[in-house]
Amino acid sequence: MNTMSEMRPSNFENVLARIEKLKKLRQAVILVHNYQNGEIQDAADYTGDSLELSRMAGATDARVIVFCGVRFMAESAKILSPSKTVLLPAEHAGCSMADMITAEALRAARQQHSGAGVVTYVNSPAEAKAESDICCTSANAAAIVNSLPQEEILFGPDRNLASWVAGRSDKKIIPWSGFCAVHDSITQDETEQVQKRHSQALLIVHPECRPEVCQCAQAVLSTSGMLSYVRESKSREFIIGTEIGLLHQLKRENPGKVFYPLSPRMVCQDMKLTTLDLLAEALENLQYPIDVPEPILSRAARSLEAMLRSG
Ligand code: 13P
Ligand code: SF4
Repeated sequence: MNTMSEMRPSNFENVLARIEKLKKLRQAVILVHNYQNGEIQDAADYTGDSLELSRMAGATDARVIVFCGVRFMAESAKILSPSKTVLLPAEHAGCSMADMITAEALRAARQQHSGAGVVTYVNSPAEAKAESDICCTSANAAAIVNSLPQEEILFGPDRNLASWVAGRSDKKIIPWSGFCAVHDSITQDETEQVQKRHSQALLIVHPECRPEVCQCAQAVLSTSGMLSYVRESKSREFIIGTEIGLLHQLKRENPGKVFYPLSPRMVCQDMKLTTLDLLAEALENLQYPIDVPEPILSRAARSLEAMLRSG
C-alpha cells in the first residue's frame, strides 16, 4: 500500500524547500483558507476562516502576504493592509457567489430600501463592500446585524446566510438572491439519507446551506467554528456539510474521530486551483499582485474595519 509521502510528486520536498527559502527572502507570510488542498494547508503560516484570515492580514508585519484562497479573500487582505504586496497564486480563483452582487445593483437596492442598514458578506467584490455600511463573515453575521441601529437590513449576497441570520434576529432582513453552488446544491432529502446511514454521527453544516438543511443539523458554523466544535465535542462521528477541504484539518487534529462528507459534490473548484508550484512561483515572481483602486479601497476598508471593530 502506498504511504502518503510515496503518493506525493517526486519534487515535493524540493518545492517545499523552495517555498521556505523564497518566503524568507521576500519576508512573506502565507495565509491559507480552510478549503485549500491539504498540501497548501500544510505549507501555511496560518490557516483559518474568512474572519481569522482578515484579522491576520490586518495585523501582520510581513512585507508580502501570499493569500491561498479566492480573489475576494485576497482583496480583503489588500484592503486591510494596503501598503503590503498581496499575492493570489492562482490568478483565476474566483467565487461565483461574489459575482452575484455588483456595486450598481447594491446602490439601486439601497435607494429602494432607503433607511435600511446594508450588511455585505465578505464573499463579495471590493466595489460592493465600498457601497455597504458594514461587512460580515459566516462567523459573525448575526452579531453584526444585531449590532446595527436600523430595524431593516439589506443583506447580500447569500440568501441562505440571510435566512440563517433572520432566524437569529428580530430585525427585518431583506435578502439578496445569491448563493454558493457548492453548498446550495445539497437537498434536505439527501441530507436525511446520509443521516440515516450514519445515525450516530452529528451533522455540522455551513450557513451557506439551504435553510431546510441547516434545520437538520446539530450545529451551523463557519469553517473554523466547525474545527473548534469537533475539537471540543465528546462525539466520535461527524457528517461535515461544507467544502471537503475542511476534512484535511479535521482528520489531522482528531485522529480518533470519524468524518463523513455530507456529499462528495461539495468541492469548490476555484479553491482547488492553488498548487504548491503556483505558490512557489507566486513568491518567486511576486505574482499575481492584487490591486484595489481608490476610492474603492478606502470605502471598502471602512466596511471591513467596522466589522473587525465590532468584535
Ligand atoms: P468561512 O468564512 O466560514 O471559512 O467560509 C468561506 C466560504 O467561502 C464558505 O463557502
Ligand atoms: Fe465561493 Fe462557494 Fe467557493 Fe466559498 S465554496 S469560495 S462561497 S464558491
